[in-house]
Amino acid sequence: MPGKDQFPNPVGSPDTMPGVEFALRDFRREDFEILWSIDQRCFPPGISYTRLELRFYMHRRGAFTLVVERAEPELAPEPVGFIVAEAGRGGVGHIITIDVLPTVRRWGVGSKLLTAAEDRLRVANCHSVFLETAVDNKTALSFYKRHKYFLLKTVPRYYSNGLDALVLQKDLLSQKGGS
Ligand SMILES: CC(C)(COP(=O)(O)OP(=O)(O)OC[C@H]1O[C@@H](n2cnc3c(N)ncnc32)[C@H](O)[C@@H]1OP(=O)(O)O)[C@@H](O)C(=O)NCCC(=O)NCCS
Repeated sequence: MPGKDQFPNPVGSPDTMPGVEFALRDFRREDFEILWSIDQRCFPPGISYTRLELRFYMHRRGAFTLVVERAEPELAPEPVGFIVAEAGRGGVGHIITIDVLPTVRRWGVGSKLLTAAEDRLRVANCHSVFLETAVDNKTALSFYKRHKYFLLKTVPRYYSNGLDALVLQKDLLSQKGGS
């Protein structure tokens, strides 16, 4: 199916996770509520988005949203993660948020979303991409390091709860993929 990328669960063995698959696809309007609820579960208050904020970022000029859904036999597929990114002016992309439900972390879902978004940004002529992450988000820092992002600067008190942000960047032309 065009725009839809099936990939098997890379961790669960066929004995323990029979038939579980994750599919990458573009956002559909009916996904919005579940994506917002995923964001609430992924970030603490003060960092997670209100509905208004999430809608605003998803609809910015050059923005796109990719979704990974979990598919199991005889169950309706359900979104378990998403990424919002935008191709900005001057060939610079921006990862606005990436959210994966705790129940499916470390199964490669985040990597699949990030790699697909970076590919989409390259197609939109972006030569680099940046993002902000909270200074205490060790998981995200490890994830982005794995994907070859480097530290650009610190922005003091960037988040409404007073936390500093780290701005990370990646060169999209010399770096492809995460490892
Ligand atoms: C960050 C996040 C998107 C990663 O998603 P994921 O699906 O678990 O990531 P992957 O399975 O693709 O992990 C790829 C690599 O990232 C690193 N990584 C991911 N989670 C990690 C953790 N908890 N501790 C250490 N390294 C980690 C590892 O190198 C991992 O590779 P490995 O599993 O082979 O060791 C997910 O943890 C998440 O949604 N967190 C909450 C929201 C958030 O913080 N978003 C990022 C800030 S914008």
